[in-house]
Amino acid sequence: MSTPAAPERPAIDLAPMAATHLADALALGRQVYDTSVKPYTSWSLSAIARHLDSEASACWVALDGDRLAGFVLGSMGFDKRSDWGNLEWIASAPEYQGQGIASRLVKACCATLTEAGASAVVTDVESRNTASAALMRSNGFEASVSVTLFVRETPR
Ligand SMILES: CC(C)(COP(=O)(O)OP(=O)(O)OC[C@H]1O[C@@H](n2cnc3c(N)ncnc32)[C@H](O)[C@@H]1OP(=O)(O)O)[C@@H](O)C(=O)NCCC(=O)NCCS
Repeated sequence: MSTPAAPERPAIDLAPMAATHLADALALGRQVYDTSVKPYTSWSLSAIARHLDSEASACWVALDGDRLAGFVLGSMGFDKRSDWGNLEWIASAPEYQGQGIASRLVKACCATLTEAGASAVVTDVESRNTASAALMRSNGFEASVSVTLFVRETPR
């Protein structure tokens, strides 16, 4: 006797980010980034819009039907280097992590930036974020300069 086949999970599709994804992306970022500490303190609607509104935008979403499974935000330019692409924000929703979704998003973002003329793509990874470092290394990024934030608490 054959056992009934388990219902198939719909595939996760990648699509360019649209304005309709803004609220879900903002909420997912608030869920996965600790916005009380650097470098996540700048997470906001305007941080998303800066990349999405950019002329050479490289923002993608991963969708499980209507559900946002992940996103990546990138655009051309990093500090004064207009020839560098910047992949600044990436997230997979906790229930979708470990399925290769972020890797697909990194590849899509880098492909868009390369097509826009990027001579390199840069991203910064917080030193304790081993998941993000592994993700970037497995997608061809190599560690370069490290910057440490020194903080002097104001004496009371
Ligand atoms: C970092 C993050 C985006 C990875 O998403 P993901 O969809 O689970 O990643 P993937 O499944 O595509 O994994 C990609 C690679 O990273 C590795 N990786 C992912 N999570 C890992 C972890 N917790 N520890 C070690 N390696 C990890 C995978 O093993 C995989 O390596 P491989 O290609 O050699 O097999 C996800 O953990 C996340 O959203 N974290 C919170 C937000 C964040 O910190 N974003 C980065 C700063 S903007």
